[in-house]
Amino acid sequence: MIDDLFADSPPDWCEVLAPGAMVLRGFALPRVPDLLQAIDAVTADAPFRHLITPGGQRMSVAMSNAGALGWVSDRRGYRYDAIDPDSGRRWPAMPRAFAQLALDAAGEAGFDGFTPEACLINRYAIGARLSLHQDKDELDYDHPIVSVSLGLPAVFLFGGFERSDKQARVPIAHGDVVVWGGPSRLRYHGVLPIKPGSHPLLGEQRINLTFRKVR
Ligand code: SIN
Ligand code: FE2
Repeated sequence: MIDDLFADSPPDWCEVLAPGAMVLRGFALPRVPDLLQAIDAVTADAPFRHLITPGGQRMSVAMSNAGALGWVSDRRGYRYDAIDPDSGRRWPAMPRAFAQLALDAAGEAGFDGFTPEACLINRYAIGARLSLHQDKDELDYDHPIVSVSLGLPAVFLFGGFERSDKQARVPIAHGDVVVWGGPSRLRYHGVLPIKPGSHPLLGEQRINLTFRKVR
């Protein structure tokens, strides 16, 4: 088969950022209607809120969660919690469309059997940003992070293992999925302030889903 000649090179919609890290261009596009419906259902139950960092700053990104665990931040620190602190109830269950997309995107990137317990839902209004950080509140780093972007475009900063390492500036569009795991699992990353604009489906916002296997 002619395909076998290319078995080792990724398809052209897959952009490798570093070993174990790649952008799957447009991977989520066919699933957008289901994803938006699921996001609406989750955030009706667990509304977006601006968390406070341990340092006392209000985050510019508004957040919610789906799944058995949710990522939260307050004056006491960052952690995963089964309970939404705003409602005192469990986070909404992981929608089927979320779980399937996470599994499929991770598999496409070479990480089989990805079954995250947590989906952090980030909502960026124009001007909102996420400063450089590592995702390291999880108990093991054997599983990748899967990050799905919807709505307004963004510039994703993808750095090294020290905060001061030079970062690639990766343009991310509606429907793109970024996966980083294996040797890239602990790379610093962040999002530059969202530029003014309006997306035909989502208006003046960007929504990002990040899936994590926590325990
Ligand atoms: C994150 O690092 O949790 C989110 C990244 C993004 O919004 O693209
Ligand atoms: Fe992150």
